[in-house]
Amino acid sequence: MFPLMRRAAVVIAAGVLLSGAALHGGAQASQTSVEESPSAQLATLREAASTSGKFIGTAIADHRLSDATYNGIAAREFSSVTAENAMKWDAIQPQRGTFNWAAPDRLMQFAQANSQQVYGHTLVWHSQMPGWLQNGNFSGTEMNQIMNTHISTVMGRYRGQINRWDVVNEAFNEDGSLRNSKWYQVLGRDYIANAFRAARAADPNAKLFINDYNTDGINAKSNGMYNLVRDLRAQGVPIDGVGFQSHLILDQLPSDYQANLQRFADLGVEVVVTELDIRMRTPSDAAKLQRQSQQFAQVVQACLNVSRCSGVTVWGFSDRDSWVPGTFPGEGAALPYDDNYQPKPAYNGILTAFGGSPGGGDPGPGPGADCTAAYQVANRWNAGSVVEVRVTARQALNGWTATFALPAGESVTSSWNTQLTQSGTTVTARNVAHNATVPAGGTFSFGFQTNSGAVYSAPVVSLNGTACTAGTA
Ligand code: G3I
Repeated sequence: MFPLMRRAAVVIAAGVLLSGAALHGGAQASQTSVEESPSAQLATLREAASTSGKFIGTAIADHRLSDATYNGIAAREFSSVTAENAMKWDAIQPQRGTFNWAAPDRLMQFAQANSQQVYGHTLVWHSQMPGWLQNGNFSGTEMNQIMNTHISTVMGRYRGQINRWDVVNEAFNEDGSLRNSKWYQVLGRDYIANAFRAARAADPNAKLFINDYNTDGINAKSNGMYNLVRDLRAQGVPIDGVGFQSHLILDQLPSDYQANLQRFADLGVEVVVTELDIRMRTPSDAAKLQRQSQQFAQVVQACLNVSRCSGVTVWGFSDRDSWVPGTFPGEGAALPYDDNYQPKPAYNGILTAFGGSPGGGDPGPGPGADCTAAYQVANRWNAGSVVEVRVTARQALNGWTATFALPAGESVTSSWNTQLTQSGTTVTARNVAHNATVPAGGTFSFGFQTNSGAVYSAPVVSLNGTACTAGTA
């Protein structure tokens, strides 16, 4: 019997759950109930978050999607995805009138395959403007036209498939005044209202957000944001939500974080934690990681406590892929998985804050153990063995990596139904094209021959970096 039959169903509340129909046509609002048995264990972030109707999202780096471990965690743990870079202006319209859809389409397909919402990021921003736009000498009329065309083209392509869009990003200075961006220079403060009106016209179903950093507590910058949102709403400008990026520093979580979210929610807008990470001086240590875990949990708890907070997105999930070390030398370790895609204490902090139970509940696999693996020596002689490995995966896979150790001195001499490499005693078996896709509850298998007939107990097999429960074929 597969050990995680007790899992809860995934709930996407009040949102668009991407389906085949949605990708090829209209949006689908979906709200299903949680099927929980008394012993239900909420073993992944998305399962746990779904019980309160919130989403847990991650930024996705397009170039990492081809990595099976990355891909597997992104699919299994998160119910929402945001393009880390692929939907920014310089990526999507690098030359005027030339649009690059390959990477954003890949993200949409990934979300569709994994029943995830998509958070669109971002349309009008001072940063990542392509040269033609940044350096062009445009009149106000033409600049407005350029903005409207970009919004209608990008939002139009994904109409009905993207739940929320960052329409305007990082519009404020730290003192709460409007940033002197190219948009502001050419169009004045009206660029913001104009962008929201264009966005509403482009996709009436998407919720339209303004998003910023250092607006996470009550301060001059968030006061500027608050006043703007209040005024735009009073003028009937179609703004639906405020994103709080929450690029936080360890031990500096604003004490009024929840109160700040709440005051925006009280304006009648949705709030989302859009880019959460909590950086620290590196190297990390156990004490820092423990405090980081508590602070991730506090952010999640704040969202749970604010009914108009619809979810929390982390800005990438693995320290390996984080923007932080490149921007803040000497700082990092900001995300819930480490450089090797192993969950850190912060993972459990997020999971437990959402009501999940890491490794707890009834016996069986914890948050990472989403698979059963049968490692069977089918044939053995004095100078060789033939091994078959069968892995049953709890969640659908789109590419996989299975790892295990062989006794020292034993080497793989050939393999089938896998691309297999060995480094020392560690064997890494990756899918081949014909067995890359595995449905939830499905099984894949591969085999190999070695140079040794040594007898040893079956090693622990890990799927996409997390250990499987030992099973039989
Ligand atoms: O794609 C090019 C590649 O072709 C080139 O070889 C390489 C050389 O540097 O650069 C690549 O582009 C980089 C891009 O990330 C993709 O990796 C850019 O230089 C780099 O500036 C860009 O950084 C991103 C940054 O936004 C600026 O767009 C980060 O990955 C991304 O995490 C960061 O995210 C922002 C949010 O969008 C808004 N809020 C703040 C947050 C953190 O800065």
